[in-house]
Amino acid sequence: MRISVGINGQPIDADVEPRLLLVHFLRDILALTGTQIGCDTTSCGACTVLLDGMAVKSCGVFAVQVDGREITTVEGLAPHGHLHPIQEAFKECHAVQCGFCTAGMMLASIAFLSHHPDPSDEEIRWALSGNLCRCTGYANIVKAVQWAARRMAAPAGGAPTGVAAILAAATRDRDGS
Ligand code: FES
Ligand code: FES
Repeated sequence: MRISVGINGQPIDADVEPRLLLVHFLRDILALTGTQIGCDTTSCGACTVLLDGMAVKSCGVFAVQVDGREITTVEGLAPHGHLHPIQEAFKECHAVQCGFCTAGMMLASIAFLSHHPDPSDEEIRWALSGNLCRCTGYANIVKAVQWAARRMAAPAGGAPTGVAAILAAATRDRDGS
């Protein structure tokens, strides 16, 4: 079947078999290998991408189902070489160990933050509960999402906020002090 999809802002036309999963379309046909396959059974979240801004597990979607829609993969987060705030956040907060879960974690976090700009730690943990980190780096992942929330809420052109201040604010929020 012929499909037309926007991938990271680029129009893509392709012939695909109806049985082809989106994750294999991205990785095997388009060589966008930042999207990982951890389980192939919609359990781990490593294959998470944005579909029209919504986080979906791409091993649970057929490529033909995204005809006419817009996909964002991790490769689309820094199109001009400037890291997305969520990428900065994972780097600043050391929210990676092996990094296998990172693309899915970041994309799920972006979708979450678009509707929850000032989340609690509990809300972040709930939102990311479908994304598994084999290295169990969850504490720093939660810090990173808080960091990104504050960076994304900062006024445009405002003074950059240091990671120490952001993490201290996150701790104050959590502790209610
Ligand atoms: S590979 Fe898709 S959820 Fe694990
Ligand atoms: S950092 Fe290794 S799986 Fe998450």
